[in-house]
Amino acid sequence: MSRLVVVSNRVTLPAKGGAAPAGGLAVALQAALEERGGIWMGWSGKSSGTKDPEVLSLQEHGKITYALTDLTKTDVEEYYEGFANRVLWPICHYRLDLAEYGRKEMAGYFRVNRFFAHRLAPLLEEDDVIWVHDYHLIPLATELRQMGVKNKIGFFLHIPWPPADVLFAMPVHEEIMRGLSHYDLVGFQTDHDLSNFGGGLVREGIGEALGDGLFTSYGRTFKGGFYPIGIETKAFSEFATKAARNIMVRKARQSIEGRDLIIGVDRLDYSKGITQRIDAFEHFVKNNPGYHNKVTYLQITPKSRSEVPEYEAMQRTVAEQAGRANGAIGTVDWVPIRYINRSIGRPVLAGLYRLAKIGLVTPLRDGMNLVAKEYVAAQDPDDPGVLVLSRFAGAARELKGALLVNPYDIEGTANAIARGLSMSLEERQERWRRMMDHLLEHDVMRWCDDFLADLAPGR
Ligand code: UDP
Ligand code: G6P
Repeated sequence: MSRLVVVSNRVTLPAKGGAAPAGGLAVALQAALEERGGIWMGWSGKSSGTKDPEVLSLQEHGKITYALTDLTKTDVEEYYEGFANRVLWPICHYRLDLAEYGRKEMAGYFRVNRFFAHRLAPLLEEDDVIWVHDYHLIPLATELRQMGVKNKIGFFLHIPWPPADVLFAMPVHEEIMRGLSHYDLVGFQTDHDLSNFGGGLVREGIGEALGDGLFTSYGRTFKGGFYPIGIETKAFSEFATKAARNIMVRKARQSIEGRDLIIGVDRLDYSKGITQRIDAFEHFVKNNPGYHNKVTYLQITPKSRSEVPEYEAMQRTVAEQAGRANGAIGTVDWVPIRYINRSIGRPVLAGLYRLAKIGLVTPLRDGMNLVAKEYVAAQDPDDPGVLVLSRFAGAARELKGALLVNPYDIEGTANAIARGLSMSLEERQERWRRMMDHLLEHDVMRWCDDFLADLAPGR
């Protein structure tokens, strides 16, 4: 089997004491690489200030060799905070209104990709299979090809790919589309994303769809496919069973005093629909007096990308909204919404998911959403909770046993909460079983194997 070389902006070293990174990419790649082994190259998360970053730091943990680089302060500002998170992220989440396009940031994005390629190339061996992840590193293959790298290179996008009318409003769409054509395989989360990609390519006259998943553009022929990312279903389910004994989970159970628990877990990100969700919960409480003092909504929201203005602004908005809603619907002996603004380790999360009667996952747009899958995997088969899921999450293409909602429809989401809380045990079990069977079959290793089999058959 060829050696696997994974490259992503975010790399997370295994943390002591089981605390895990917040963010689907790091969680999934760690699971996939732990089993298969290989090199994982990316940003250390640290800035070298104004000095050029030193050579790569190489560290071995189990079967994984981590190869990490610092970035200068300017690189972080232009490449990560600037172009990746203020242009590509909002565009790919259909938020043209939030995209802040600047030439300096764009230049920084391409410069850092060139830098990554130069740091990576000396590590490569002839037979290595290179797998690049996410929107930060789209031009990496172009740079590697220019340096003469002939290895198989695949790309997987963890976030949505927008329709042509949204993508082509981005001034540098041409360079981005060209960047993708230098891969051997370009993978998306869902059939929708793939069809947006192919549709845009053909409609704008950039390339052709040749059939059988083959595309041609900018003089290159490459494969495109969709590979819905999974979780470590079995391991996560075992976590959840064990977590009942965890002290934090026990305290949470005691403190809800027999009320029904509703849980939301998301990075603080405008794509997650957190404000609409709080509105929907408030609506549900107002419309259902029978549930007064009988339900607790726990929203766990670690800070994310706080240097980016749109994210910084959200910290205040969401905290104020949760406070205002509690003021409006709470009583002297009942605080309906508990808002936690920091990261919780996944072993504890697993136990909290299992306690919750409803998993409320309502992004306005999401590539996949692993929280939805984790919530399902954590349930007790004898008394499973109900997943209320946005139809705009990639996970909705697979998890047909969820109550699908339109997160912009506040009343509709409120009604789904009410329906979930009163659903019969038989219906809950039937819906859960369907989803769990799917997740057991399509776990993160299957995702990894499927992608790599298409990228480098027989290797
Ligand atoms: N997560 C975590 N601690 C938290 C919040 C989230 O470990 O406090 C994890 C969560 O369990 C999931 C990932 O972060 O594995 C979030 O992935 P998802 O695909 O839902 O969203 P993303 O953050 O990648 O947009
Ligand atoms: C999403 C992206 C990942 C990213 C994660 C956390 O899952 O697809 O690429 O790592 O969010 O965001 P951050 O900016 O902290 O890496």
